[in-house]
Amino acid sequence: MQFGRTTFSKFVIEHTRGGHSELGALLIDVSAAVKGIAALVGKGALSGWTGTSGAGEVNVQGEVQKAIDVASNEAILRHCEWGGQLAGMASEEMDEPYRIPDQYPRGRYLLVFDPLDGSSNSDVNVSVGTIFSILKRETAGDGDPSAADFLQPGDRQLAAGYAIYGPATMLVLSLGSGTHGFTLDRENGNFILTHPDIRVPEETREFAINTSNERFWEPPVQRYVAECKAGKSGVRGVDFNMRWIASMVAEVHRILMRGGIFMYPKDNKDPAKPGRLRLLYEANPMAMLIEQAGGAASTGRRRILAVEPGELHQRVPVILGSRQEVERLERYHGEYDAGTDRAFTSPLFSERSLFRADAS
Ligand code: F6P
Repeated sequence: MQFGRTTFSKFVIEHTRGGHSELGALLIDVSAAVKGIAALVGKGALSGWTGTSGAGEVNVQGEVQKAIDVASNEAILRHCEWGGQLAGMASEEMDEPYRIPDQYPRGRYLLVFDPLDGSSNSDVNVSVGTIFSILKRETAGDGDPSAADFLQPGDRQLAAGYAIYGPATMLVLSLGSGTHGFTLDRENGNFILTHPDIRVPEETREFAINTSNERFWEPPVQRYVAECKAGKSGVRGVDFNMRWIASMVAEVHRILMRGGIFMYPKDNKDPAKPGRLRLLYEANPMAMLIEQAGGAASTGRRRILAVEPGELHQRVPVILGSRQEVERLERYHGEYDAGTDRAFTSPLFSERSLFRADAS
């Protein structure tokens, strides 16, 4: 047993002194909730929570809802509703915002979360996680917040974080001044600060994307991935590795630890969906953590944190990770939009473009 280490509680108490102690108390409740989820997830099939929820079996996103999604959602609601810090909560697993029960005091913060991201992986024992974001309610009054109260750009997040349930459980947090990682010491139940001030390396040779969607991507993403795959023989002049875990928390964690780029870009697979990932409780918290670690997070055309949300469960294209690579992708999108991405033109022959699907 080592004494004197910085626990998560000590860290947030120290960093929320002077007017934000309620935020600290809320974060300590969030950490208690994720310890509960870690215990549940860690039991695997022994938890009795495997399989679909049985209650309609799809969530508001139309995605299969697992029993463990529902249990994780409950864990966060129960741990965080009572303390008097929250005006309301919103979750991937709930169509509408959750109202704080009448028996509990109300506060000024809003908690938005994805209780178990990547849960399609839980049955195959791959790392999954919880993602959360904390905003301040901007409207006055003690009544229930409406969905509109949650529609704030990511730049207004007061705190963002995720828990990753892997071989070790970790909690990664930003309060707007750096990104810090805590590892769960299972012997005493404390999260211990093990990764202070994480920095994403600026350059990378590793990219992550679901290439089965390649034919649906926009040309700038096709161009970028084609160049990575061409490796030493292409314009990049170096070989790249590809990774795809299909669990965003695990991908972002890898990028925070050793660099890389993660993409779930805009595609035309389903024109009703501008991306797969959700802005408020996936993209925004991860974008804050990555930016605070020196990386970048973009839709391809603008910073994710500057996007004005239009609805609670809005989807958004996500490109995040090592700064130089994200900036390269933004440049490719800009060139495509401006029509200047033609790889080869000849005044003698008809124009040829490697990257444009059309000439509009
Ligand atoms: O909800 C999102 C998610 O599970 C992410 O965690 C992950 O990055 C992505 O979906 C996986 O998508 P796909 O099924 O296309 O690989």
